[in-house]
Amino acid sequence: MNAPRKNEYGQKVLIDSEEIHAGIRQMGQRIADNYRDEPLTVIGCLKGSFIFMADLVRAIPRPLHIDFIEVSSYGNDLQSTGNVRIVKDFKHPVENSHVLIVEDIVDTGLTFDFLFEHIRLKKPASLEIATLLVRRSVDQEMRPVKYSCFTIGEEYVVGYGLDAAGLYRNLDHVAVFDAPV
Ligand code: IMP
Repeated sequence: MNAPRKNEYGQKVLIDSEEIHAGIRQMGQRIADNYRDEPLTVIGCLKGSFIFMADLVRAIPRPLHIDFIEVSSYGNDLQSTGNVRIVKDFKHPVENSHVLIVEDIVDTGLTFDFLFEHIRLKKPASLEIATLLVRRSVDQEMRPVKYSCFTIGEEYVVGYGLDAAGLYRNLDHVAVFDAPV
């Protein structure tokens, strides 16, 4: 058996850069096939999605609009405050356009609920989500996550956009963050 891969910070590598890029290539093609030539706006949820968003849109071979929304729920802590608020709203008009929200991870699903409610009011032709990661615990009946690259357990992860107290977003892979005890 191979020893678990560790990164430069001694963190266990959960998903390496090659696995991520293979997952994104497949997802991008699926998205392009599903929307064909209908108008599409991709809205990245900052900050966690910024790296995934940049790679995903380049894997969708068709014209599309790009915008960003920034929401906050964690503050500087590792625990969700349970309270999602908009820090910066998106601007692009989406009425009658298909909208794809891009998230880093669907965890409790609170951000998912908030974004769906918020964007639905703007009357898009359809609304779906693409996320790099989804927790196994997410109830897919209540919160259908149409596109996800990887399903993970309860571990707190960092890298490829995801942070722990603002750090490690710039890793090119996803690693397990063990909070100091
Ligand atoms: P929610 O609980 O589904 O609303 O997720 C809210 C946000 O929490 C996500 O978009 C991430 O930015 C952050 N988050 C949840 N789990 C993790 C994790 O394991 N590492 C880093 N950020 C996380």
